[in-house]
Amino acid sequence: MENFTKKAALQQHLAKLKADGAVITFVPTLGALHQGHLSLIQQAQQLGNVVVCSIFVNPTQFNDPKDLEKYPRPIRDDIKKLEQVNCDVLFNPDVTEMYASNEKWHLDIGELEGLLEGKFRPSHYQGVTQVVYKLFNIVKPDIALFGQKDYQQFLVIQKMVDTLKLPVELVMCPIVREPDGLAMSSRNIHLLPADRQHALILSKTLNKIKQGFNPDNIAQLKQQAEAAISNEPGVELAYFEIADGDTLHPANRNTKNIVALIAAKVGKTRLIDNVVLVSP
Ligand code: PAJ
Repeated sequence: MENFTKKAALQQHLAKLKADGAVITFVPTLGALHQGHLSLIQQAQQLGNVVVCSIFVNPTQFNDPKDLEKYPRPIRDDIKKLEQVNCDVLFNPDVTEMYASNEKWHLDIGELEGLLEGKFRPSHYQGVTQVVYKLFNIVKPDIALFGQKDYQQFLVIQKMVDTLKLPVELVMCPIVREPDGLAMSSRNIHLLPADRQHALILSKTLNKIKQGFNPDNIAQLKQQAEAAISNEPGVELAYFEIADGDTLHPANRNTKNIVALIAAKVGKTRLIDNVVLVSP
């Protein structure tokens, strides 16, 4: 695997490959890689010739400086994992390579800004679009892959690509879970053993909703889910929503694309998860 920390060197390398006709696929990450991230790399390998992965803990998308500080950064392990799955290129810049000081950014992402995650993490999606825009500009990928795990993030990035007419195709990849159902996340390592058990209420509840889903019963299902999560010790529900998968507004019986999304604090760790209930 070729490993770059500088934009210019990466761009030079990719320009040569593109001149030879390579299809460049791109998987941006914050690092602390797990099987969820690696599954994106593996899907990227099916879609193109050269897979670029970025590892960059982007400061502008963290609301809480403590969360940024304690975000895991096991770069040596990450490199080993990327080599094991035959990733072609790693881009691992430092903050000064990505940002000038006092840089301003604002992109109109419409109502997605203030719904669900947006409501709980003000300015988070501005930071995400800021860094993904920069990364797209550097890598100039043909295809970029993102996980369904961050469902709203995918919609926000799609909105950016549509608004700015960026020449990249986006692909959403399925959520990879632990054998007991917990969605893989770099934050799971912060869960104490008891929290790790309590955290299962998220995926269990989503599963139950999927099993019992009936479009005439949305309000009741939502109530049941909220009660189940709130009754679990050590778990503090932020939101549970059965939403239109395009707009994230509450779904109704006529909605064609329905997703259940959940966010909760388990112990000190904030987790998110979702499941598609009806696809168009
Ligand atoms: P990060 O949380 O590291 O996630 C990188 C990519 O991996 C995202 O597209 C995310 O949805 C996907 N992913 C995470 N857990 C997954 C799982 N269990 N199964 C499948 N895919 C999973 O998302 C970010 O980083 C950042 O916001 C980023 C887009 C890199 C911008 O900084």
